[in-house]
Amino acid sequence: MKILSVVGARPQFVKLAPIARAATDAGVDHVIVHTGQHYDPMLSDVFFRELGIPDPDVHLGVGSASHGVQTGAILGALDGVLEEHRPDWVLAYGDTNSTLAAAIAAVKLHYPLAHLEAGLRSFNRRMPEELNRVLTDHAADLCLAPTEVGMKHLVDEGLADHSILVGDVMTDVLLQVRDAVADREVPLLDDLGLERQGFYIATLHRAENTDDPARLDAVIQGLSELDHPVVLLAHPRVVAKATEHGLTLERGALRLHTPLGYPDLVAAVLASAGVVTDSGGLQKEAFLLRTPCTTIRPETEWVETVALGWNVLANTADEIREAVARPMPTPTSEQPYGDGHAARRVVEVLAASRR
Ligand code: UD1
Repeated sequence: MKILSVVGARPQFVKLAPIARAATDAGVDHVIVHTGQHYDPMLSDVFFRELGIPDPDVHLGVGSASHGVQTGAILGALDGVLEEHRPDWVLAYGDTNSTLAAAIAAVKLHYPLAHLEAGLRSFNRRMPEELNRVLTDHAADLCLAPTEVGMKHLVDEGLADHSILVGDVMTDVLLQVRDAVADREVPLLDDLGLERQGFYIATLHRAENTDDPARLDAVIQGLSELDHPVVLLAHPRVVAKATEHGLTLERGALRLHTPLGYPDLVAAVLASAGVVTDSGGLQKEAFLLRTPCTTIRPETEWVETVALGWNVLANTADEIREAVARPMPTPTSEQPYGDGHAARRVVEVLAASRR
């Protein structure tokens, strides 16, 4: 069997790591196509190196552009790649323009398409990710759901007969990395003179929070007024948008830092008093590390983190301050994201469903 993975953005490299390992363990031929959507070394190369992912077999090098131009460039380039490799499955990793392009390329050329992270919904059609995931689910031959809630959405949308619950592959990596970094130094503490549990980790990159100057200013202001130092691991997008809007990111409690590689991020979250973010993955990682999270969005796809009390949605500066200052959530042993063996299940399901 030959699986062809199409990845392009930071969280997809994290999910690729356990899939690549499971493919190797199962003796499956695995072709990695990197679209080049993310190209900064700290958003791309560092993940391949630190998570032991084989180098991509194909690099499309598309870079940044508007939605149509970026998606179109990937789509155009994939035709030749698919015809050359003729995979049994094209595996798309969710959310991004790279995923939507992979989905369209695969189904147009009649290569079976599987969608990892299928069934996630924010029900907010203004988010580019929501459109990408809905369209990909409805194009896919096989929807691989990470959660029971995701499965329910797929059933509700009439996709039950080719959907299956496999668990969340990001949990596979997270649990392994958590154990590996347990006794590790956290360079961030010395670099910025921080005390353990005496600072917050923040990330911000969503179009909804960064593209409008007034919105970005309000979020930054909210973060700057928190009661402990806030380390903003600044995605290039927020830096570019702040510059474009003439806004200063470093103010009040806010300290700027470059993005971290995965083990350093996990160690930093474990050492922090809490996470404030608009990232999907980080909400879930904070939950798995039992670190309280505040999410700067009106809704989330990872509703289990909210239901179990470890994540609170907050949008205004007041809401963010209040949410961050809340008491420590009640401990839980629930495992809504699976047992850390999702990638193995994905490869097994792909092998069993091969056409
Ligand atoms: C993308 C995904 C988002 C995912 C995120 C993870 C889409 C629509 N969005 O958002 O779902 O959560 O990745 O990080 O696919 N830039 C750089 N260097 C890079 C990459 C981006 O400087 O390596 C800057 C550029 O100014 C670029 C901007 O960031 O225009 C946005 O990048 P893009 O990949 O389009 O979207 P993300 O915000 O990263």
